Amino acid sequence: MFKEMASEKAYRLLESGPIVMVTTRARDGTPNVMTMGFHMMMQHEPALIGAVLGPWDHSFSALRELGECVIAVPTIDLAQTVVDVGNCSGAQLDKFEKFGLTTMPSRRVDAPSIMECFANLECTVVDQSMVSRYNMFVLEVKRIVVDESRPERRLIHHQGDGRFVADGETLDLRERMVHWRYLMD
Ligand SMILES: Cc1cc2nc3c(=O)[nH]c(=O)nc-3n(C[C@H](O)[C@H](O)[C@H](O)COP(=O)(O)O)c2cc1C
Repeated sequence: MFKEMASEKAYRLLESGPIVMVTTRARDGTPNVMTMGFHMMMQHEPALIGAVLGPWDHSFSALRELGECVIAVPTIDLAQTVVDVGNCSGAQLDKFEKFGLTTMPSRRVDAPSIMECFANLECTVVDQSMVSRYNMFVLEVKRIVVDESRPERRLIHHQGDGRFVADGETLDLRERMVHWRYLMD
């Protein structure tokens, strides 16, 4: 039997893309990092991502002003750090130092990449028109680096209430993707 769920809790069903961290660099050069669950792919090529960062986040002004960030994709081994990073502000402390995250230079943006993450997506802001209404930045992915050497690749997904699930079994259904062959390589 279906049970009613409050409509404002839609995020509890749909938020569960991989939880990510977003790095930025402020005008004075200070790097920062926050956790983000509200993101979505918008376009294949060039790759566009919608990213919701609230004005209450210290990262918001850095992204708004300098228009660059890195989306760092963590795996399950970093789960506790990811939560902690999203529960304090770079306005008060250096989160990289506090949580032992190692920065490495990005190539296409000034915001740092994170060594401990599986992948780093270097992004620039290409559209701020939805920021005032929805806090949503449209990002274009300029470069991606993936750490192919790491054995742990399970991404983590936020269920919206402090609970997470990790990637499990992979289902290979590529032979059924008859209309989308070009996406299969
Ligand atoms: C699991 C999780 C998911 C989050 N998702 C988002 C999000 O999508 N957008 C957002 O603005 N804040 C999100 N936050 C909150 C920010 O990460 C949090 O406000 C952080 O302290 C901001 O850091 P800053 O002030 O250094 O920028 C999330 C926090 C957690 C723990």
